[in-house]
Amino acid sequence: MEVVPCPSVDALAALAADAVEALVRARPDAVLGLATGSSPLPVYRELVARHRAGAGPSYDAVSAFTLDEYVGLPLGHPESYRATIARELTDDLGLPPERVHGPDPAPDALPTAGERYERALQQAGGVDLQVLGIGTDGHLAFNEPGSSLASLTRIKTLTEQTRQDNARFFESPDEVPRHVLTQGLGTILRARHLLLVAVGSAKAAAVAAALEGPLSASCPASVLQLHPHVTVLLDPGAAGGL
Ligand code: GLP
Repeated sequence: MEVVPCPSVDALAALAADAVEALVRARPDAVLGLATGSSPLPVYRELVARHRAGAGPSYDAVSAFTLDEYVGLPLGHPESYRATIARELTDDLGLPPERVHGPDPAPDALPTAGERYERALQQAGGVDLQVLGIGTDGHLAFNEPGSSLASLTRIKTLTEQTRQDNARFFESPDEVPRHVLTQGLGTILRARHLLLVAVGSAKAAAVAAALEGPLSASCPASVLQLHPHVTVLLDPGAAGGL
């Protein structure tokens, strides 16, 4: 595992964007795994800025998979993760919606959503580079503490902590969905390169537990310790507990 303390969020974003671009240059039909949340936003902005300036690689053959999705938001809700990723990154990179995949939260198809998503991942040849954030309780995607380390994509119930953490994206805390579809920890481990970005001192304890604590379902992000190719980019706040 490569742990890189960065002097600033800008430096972190530049390094992460370099990693994405190096992959896409080497493999024009790369499969990107994309996390939502606020941590990767500086990275996505940097990628979009470089692309607009004509400095980035071509994304014409790239496809992407979102990590997770809320269940129960009306179709096209701006806070759905599919809409968020399109708005924050993939639209601006020129990826059409048919090349951006995510777990399908349509109510009548929920029981098979996990299985279908895993199949789509497999058919695409798996994720080359998975961008990840980390929750304050050590969750990865929406794998809350107690999640099986071998889990695959499935429905999960959010903890109150995560609902509170995510309430800032909604008009009222009651609007935050209670259920989600999320890649499992086992799904995440199948990606060929994991790139975790963490920003701010609120993440320091979770980062320290994930990287230096025991491998445990109590800290789902500790599963990173099992992967052969992990890069962790931290700003000074997030690195504060190491
Ligand atoms: C959400 C997402 C995760 C994300 C985490 C941290 O719950 N499902 O993928 O990593 O929260 O979010 P943020 O970066 O906004 O702190």
